[in-house]
Amino acid sequence: MAKPTTQYVCSACGSTFTKWSGRCDSCGEWNTISEDTGLSASGPGKSALGAHRGKAITLTNLTTKDTPPPRTLSKLDELDRVLGGGLVPGSAILVGGDPGIGKSTLLLQAAARFANAGLPTVYVSGEESSAQVRLRAQRLNLSDAPVLLAAETNLRNILTTLDKDRPALVVIDSIQTMWSDSVDSAPGSVSQVRAAAHELTTFAKQRGVSVVLVGHVTKEGQIAGPRVVEHMVDTVLYFEGERGHPFRILRAVKNRFGSADEIGVFEMTGRGLEQVTNPSELFLSERGQPAPGSAVFAGIEGTRPVLVEFQALVAPTPHSQPRRSVVGWDGSRLAMILAVLESRCGIPFAGLDVYLNVAGGIKITEPAADLAVAAALLSAREDSALPEGAVTFGEISLSGALRPAPQTENRLKEAQKLGFTTAIVPAGGKLGGATGIVLNQMDDLTGFVGTVFGAG
Ligand code: TYD
Ligand code: MG
Repeated sequence: MAKPTTQYVCSACGSTFTKWSGRCDSCGEWNTISEDTGLSASGPGKSALGAHRGKAITLTNLTTKDTPPPRTLSKLDELDRVLGGGLVPGSAILVGGDPGIGKSTLLLQAAARFANAGLPTVYVSGEESSAQVRLRAQRLNLSDAPVLLAAETNLRNILTTLDKDRPALVVIDSIQTMWSDSVDSAPGSVSQVRAAAHELTTFAKQRGVSVVLVGHVTKEGQIAGPRVVEHMVDTVLYFEGERGHPFRILRAVKNRFGSADEIGVFEMTGRGLEQVTNPSELFLSERGQPAPGSAVFAGIEGTRPVLVEFQALVAPTPHSQPRRSVVGWDGSRLAMILAVLESRCGIPFAGLDVYLNVAGGIKITEPAADLAVAAALLSAREDSALPEGAVTFGEISLSGALRPAPQTENRLKEAQKLGFTTAIVPAGGKLGGATGIVLNQMDDLTGFVGTVFGAG
């Protein structure tokens, strides 16, 4: 008989160990390893072909006569698009986001929409009482939606109920509050989150029920609990936004049924979340006259062109180590662009604090934003506004060369639609059909600096 062994698990990456240590050997995080009493004792070193020989499984080929099951549309276009064109039956979806960002609001609205579209829908809250959820529904004017409600955290009770009622969609708010009695540790612990997510996703697959799990994110911006939860589900969506800004972005970071990087844009109002059908207009709405430090980037988010404003501020630093502060863009990418400007164009930023911000609370990850970042930085440093009505995009390489961005034509069309007249872009992009926008094409960053800030 194998004697039960204690295992230790890392809360950051989910690796398991036989002894405790202060630092995880697998991902290098400190103080993330804790005892995991919930695992079975099939210790390492035991061969899978030992005493426990399994039964042979049937292998099949790839042909199928089945047609893909029809997707259901919530008719909330911003959500349907992020899901890859509606909800797939039997899919498991994880929706992560900071506390208070609006996950419960979004999912109650989505549950009501899917229920109205004919899907039997159950909303299980582990955080709020049924009365609280009903009050929220009243505020959102959803009281008449045929959603069934439960306030419960015991997973066994939930699964028994779902097995009896067989809904088509279940929302679990949140996975961190669920508690499975097959695991002997507290709710919210790594092994509980993992076990609950595993049981719910297995249930989704076996019964063809779509399951939406709500997950809180940690300070580091990851869904609390092991990363394995993200691997277990078909789709991972993040609900993002800045406190104090009403705009919210639902972003697909993984989707087995659609394209990742697709975004849906919402606005939080007194009556819940409203769709924003033209995000470019929204992100540029606070813009006044062209000002130093401002550059408009024609970006692509998923399948849709989105125009956003990069704002930079450059000021002499009182400190020995200048500040580099970034909101909505990658800090190490900023460092790279500053280094390229310094070594390829001879424009130093030493002794200067640099602040970079993307207006409207959206996070931009596209490398094509490099040129817009460089333009905003240079414009701030020279204290000279970019030409009026200009957009820009393009990737900057370490040599200072500019690389064309994909989907140039879509970006230009969107810019034209919003009244922009000029585009400063790398030479050689696929331009497709003619557009009514004046193109200012350049090969490298030095050319860009000379053309745009030639007089400065
Ligand atoms: P909530 O959905 O509870 O966030 P989460 O589930 O992500 O923790 O949303 C909380 C915030 O949303 C709260 O600060 C109030 C605000 N809110 C509105 O502005 N309008 C509304 O109609 C609702 C329901 C919430
Ligand atoms: Mg909530």
